[in-house]
Amino acid sequence: MKIMGQICILILLVLGICSIEAADPMADFCNKDTNISKSSQISANIDALLAELVSKTDSTGYFATSYGKGQAQVYGLAQCRGDVVGSKDCSSCIQDAAKEIRQRCPDQAAATIWYDFCFLRYSNKSFIGEVDTSYGIIFYNVQNVTDPEKFVKELGALVDNIKAQAVVPKNLGFGKGETKLSPLTTLYAFGQCTRDLAKLDCSQCLAIAVGNYETIGGNRRGCRVLYGSCYVRYELYPIFYPVGSNSSMNVVADETKMTLVNP
Ligand SMILES: *[C@@H]1O[C@H](CO)[C@@H](O)[C@H](O)[C@H]1NC(C)=O
Ligand SMILES: *[C@@H]1O[C@H](CO)[C@@H](O)[C@H](O)[C@H]1NC(C)=O
Ligand SMILES: *[C@@H]1O[C@H](CO)[C@@H](O)[C@H](O)[C@H]1NC(C)=O
Ligand SMILES: *[C@@H]1O[C@H](CO)[C@@H](O)[C@H](O)[C@H]1NC(C)=O
Repeated sequence: MKIMGQICILILLVLGICSIEAADPMADFCNKDTNISKSSQISANIDALLAELVSKTDSTGYFATSYGKGQAQVYGLAQCRGDVVGSKDCSSCIQDAAKEIRQRCPDQAAATIWYDFCFLRYSNKSFIGEVDTSYGIIFYNVQNVTDPEKFVKELGALVDNIKAQAVVPKNLGFGKGETKLSPLTTLYAFGQCTRDLAKLDCSQCLAIAVGNYETIGGNRRGCRVLYGSCYVRYELYPIFYPVGSNSSMNVVADETKMTLVNP
């Protein structure tokens, strides 16, 4: 009995260590039209696919592949944000994403998870190279800027610049920029396409994404838009990697709202 007790404690310890929490994502999407059972071949293939994505995304911050064959074949893509590629935060983000997506969508063949630093998606339908804006998530700051007219103009110019950068192959689908709005206020923005997209598709995705800035009022102090093929964000505080120790000073914990587009 004593030995059994000790074994139990040992198992509990091991379980405790194994269940270290993965970081929370910004959002996830489990496609409820692709329900599968955990014992299905698709489910086993997803696990194998995720293991491959985790091991192969590291070096370049991007990997797209498929696993299995026939009806059970699954396709996956994992990618770090352009400015995070090559850092420790890239690999740990992909690891968290692979772990968390299976916990959040254990019964679906198609799922997407968005982190600020990385993105991971899989499906039993091929999607590599196809622009996807079918499901979008918007997070916006409920606070408004003080000079909307000037703000909209400056943000528009910044967005054009970001779009131009994102389609340059060496930029890995990423573009960023900042503009001083006043001596004390700087606007920071970036856009990221998944790296499987052609130039034109990347432009299109970013254009659709930033179109939502207008939809939520055009005057918000910050906004993030997440799609299956791109991610755009702007804030009135630094958001590029690595976020320096200075930057948190300006961050006001404003209320953020979430809204869905074409779900
Ligand atoms: C898929 O499963 C979820 C519960 O996990 C359920 O709410 C949903 O209706 C199912 N979808 C279909 C198409 O059956
Ligand atoms: C993906 O899996 C779902 C659930 O098993 C199935 O309904 C759907 O037809 C599959 N799609 C493809 C492209 O195989
Ligand atoms: C911000 O502006 C929107 C219109 O874009 C308005 O509906 C909202 O009430 C404003 N919020 C605040 C906090 O002033
Ligand atoms: C803090 O800000 C100053 C001035 O903007 C800059 O020179 C310095 O490198 C920053 N430090 C960090 C850790 O970001």
